[in-house]
Amino acid sequence: MKRLMAAATSLVLAGSLAACGDDKPETSAASGDDSITMGFAQVGAESGWRTANTKSVQEAAKAAGIELKFSDAQQKQENQLKAIRSFIQQKVDVISFSPVVETGWDTVLMEAKRANIPVILTDRAVDSKDTSLYKTFLGSDFVLEGKKAGEWLVKQADAADVNKDGAIKVVELQGTTGAAPAIDRKEGFEEAMKANPKIAIAASQTGDFTRDGGKKVMESFLKAQKDIDVVFAHNDDMGLGAIEAIEAAGKKPGKDIQIITIDAVKDGMTALAEGKINYIVECNPLLGPQLMDLAKKVVAKQDVPQRVLTEETAFDQAAAKAALASRQY
Ligand code: AHR
Repeated sequence: MKRLMAAATSLVLAGSLAACGDDKPETSAASGDDSITMGFAQVGAESGWRTANTKSVQEAAKAAGIELKFSDAQQKQENQLKAIRSFIQQKVDVISFSPVVETGWDTVLMEAKRANIPVILTDRAVDSKDTSLYKTFLGSDFVLEGKKAGEWLVKQADAADVNKDGAIKVVELQGTTGAAPAIDRKEGFEEAMKANPKIAIAASQTGDFTRDGGKKVMESFLKAQKDIDVVFAHNDDMGLGAIEAIEAAGKKPGKDIQIITIDAVKDGMTALAEGKINYIVECNPLLGPQLMDLAKKVVAKQDVPQRVLTEETAFDQAAAKAALASRQY
């Protein structure tokens, strides 16, 4: 809500941006030369989703004739901060990044603003009170994704009570601590599960959005918790890691323990089609083309919406089987 309210004021504040901090000369686009250089600070390569997102951004930049300076932060905020400062020094025309975590960006965003370089947030948002520090956000509604996952569980509650003890015991594999998708998906899921008091989260820990992280945390959950009914993993990769841990413990994923994930990358959809995952909420990584369109607009000082949300769906087993053949990523 805080981010939404802040976003609502960003259009008003954006108008004042051009007037302040003009130490960067007119952008090349604004000065008649329409070549654009974008500095893009990516989170890392932690998941199948991220790989697809990187490919989409790189291909779309090429197709749009935008020169891309790409940096991989290896899931570390300090690396992203360094990359953004380097883009500022190189006087790129526009900076885009997907913040590893929500907080701690105001200083570097202020530096970009003073250098008159517009910033586009992509995929993940920042928790900053000053929304004049960036031009727009492009990505998913992570709260809604978590909500869809929780609502499916509420609808399937009887079937999800695998242990038939009248209680649905959920373990949660959280994304990177402090990251917008981890915070928001948890919030959405918890909101939805309130509709059935039999559903309770028995344990919740970060697996850092990686397959290995998901596997390790699930191994410890299986040792510490009896009668787990459901795994809610904040992304496919952690769900796939959990499948390995469940199988190693001699149980059948999808049957002895139900699994709900978010993303819908090919590996996740394959596991869903095979019945090892029970439900996947889609998170679309193909943000490249929209990002390049927005970049051209902000460089040309045109108005852009404060928030551009991607359209997403959800898959059960039948839908996954139907969609798999044409899945791009
Ligand atoms: O920010 C998007 C999330 O980050 C994806 O759901 C996850 O797979 C990735 O690591």
